[in-house]
Order: sequence, then C-alpha cells, then structure tokens
Amino acid sequence: MSNYAVVGNPVSHSKSPLIHTLFAKQLDQTMSYSAIPLEESEFDAFVIEFFAKGGGGLNVTVPFKEKAFKLAASCSPRAELAKAVNTLFLDAEGQICGENTDGIGLVTDIKLNHQFKIQGRDILVLGAGGAVRGVLAALIDEQAASITVVNRTVSKAAQLLDAFAGMANLQAMSYQELDEVANSGRSYDLVINGTSSSLQGEMLDIDARLLAKDCCCYDMMYADTDTVFVQWAKKHGAGLSIDGLGMLVEQAAEAFALWRGVRPSTVNIISQLRDHS
Ligand code: ATR
Repeated sequence: MSNYAVVGNPVSHSKSPLIHTLFAKQLDQTMSYSAIPLEESEFDAFVIEFFAKGGGGLNVTVPFKEKAFKLAASCSPRAELAKAVNTLFLDAEGQICGENTDGIGLVTDIKLNHQFKIQGRDILVLGAGGAVRGVLAALIDEQAASITVVNRTVSKAAQLLDAFAGMANLQAMSYQELDEVANSGRSYDLVINGTSSSLQGEMLDIDARLLAKDCCCYDMMYADTDTVFVQWAKKHGAGLSIDGLGMLVEQAAEAFALWRGVRPSTVNIISQLRDHS
C-alpha cells in the first residue's frame, strides 16, 4: 500500500487526512494518509527517509513550505515563483520534486465551484506573507485587469511584487493608501483575505465602499463557523462571501492527481466536509 502524509507543526487539526481518505474511497484506491508533526530540525531527514522507504508523496504545511522548496531537487515554475512547496513527489529518476497547488486550488474554487470570472477584474489582495506568495502566480495567470496587494508592512508587499514584476498590472500599497482609494470611489471585484487576521478573530480595518457591486470576497482561511472576514463581507452585501474550505479541497485534489494520475471530483467532498464541521 502506498503511504502519504501531511507534515507541519501544528498539524493535528489538519483536514487533509480526511480529504485524501475521501478521495481514495471515491476512486477506489488503496492508500494510507496520515498527519505527522515535525520539529524544524527533523524536516529534511524525515522527508528523505520517507521517500527512501517508498513513501508515495507528502503534503507540506506551515511552517515548512519554504524548507520543502529548498529541499526539492527540482520545482515547478509556480513553486519557484512562490519559493514555497506544498506537495512533494518523486520523479521517474527518483528525485524529490516540489509543486505548489495552493494557487490553482484558490483559482479553481473561485472560478469553477463559485462560477466567478477572474479575467479582466480588479483584484484586491490583503496580506503579503507566505500564503499570498503561494497563490500570486496562479492569480496572475488568470489575466485580471489589476492586482493590488495591501499590507500592514508595505515594504513586504513591494518586495513580494518585485518577484512578479512585469507579469501583470501589479501594485503594492498601505492600508492608509487603500483608504484614499475608497475615498476616490474606486472599488474591487474580487477581494481576497490572505492575512492571518482571521486566525486571531480580528477584522481588518478596511472600508466597505471598496467592494464593487456583486463582488466576491474570499477568505483563504476557513473555520467551522463564518470567519470574521466572511461575516464582514456578508454584512456589507458582497455578491459572494467564501471561506477557504473549497481551496483546501481543490489544492488537495491537485496533489492527489499528481501522485495518483487521476483527479478526484471535489464538489461532494466540499459539501460533506461543510456538513461535518
Ligand atoms: P502566512 O504564511 O500565513 O501568510 P505570514 O507570512 O506570517 O503568514 O503572513 C501573515 C500576513 O498577515 C502578513 O501579511 C501580515 O502582515 P505584516 O506583514 O504587516 O505583519 C498579515 N497580518 C497578520 N495579522 C494582521 C492584522 N491583524 N492586520 C493586518 N495584517 C495582518
């Protein structure tokens, strides 16, 4: 039987074992998938040994995505841009390869599951940490009209966008500048929360006038009940107010497809997880 796992710290709360077990059941595949907590110093040795012992693939979550990127012998262009890897597998030569499926997971959830068109739209991204870096390449590929990245520490947003310079109409700004945008009457079609503020249960101080009519508000975080960002979006009449559960399932489906050569269907699994939360 092939073994798979997600490694991170903490990882006991991870829904990945359940998601991959449901995928395997749906496709009648025999595999095991566990959640393994690691200390930072153990990461490289664990991964090398896992694959040496015939492991089929690994998912990597916080705080090891950058370490996984550095460890992989080769990475996809998206993982190179993200400088972060969430999926590891062996190629035909037995080398450890890295992919980042977070961005495609986000885009698939928005476009296919929620039928929201990204092309030609003005996007506002809140936050400029690892989570945002991981999805920017996939968002850029969707050919939005513009992508504005706002961060508390504005220099981090500018630095992040440097890596993507010339690939799209990109702009970094502070929350203060964003207030000026709101005052000017400009608004955004898609607002993505990529900050960790939801984890702290805090709403960001942003002006609801920034939401265009029928806009889509997407929180990359998820929780068993509406996140504060989703609550805020609903309160202010966003066309769509979505949390990151669908993104989680879609990124997992991409990883499963890489490992097993077949992509599970996700819609029923997203609703199953939603019902069980
Ligand atoms: P992750 O890997 O989850 O992205 P991270 O790299 O620590 O974690 O980034 C967290 C992001 O959330 C950053 O953009 C951070 O802003 P700063 O770079 O200015 O610290 C943002 N963030 C966290 N809490 C926030 C808050 N209360 N208000 C605004 N931004 C917040």
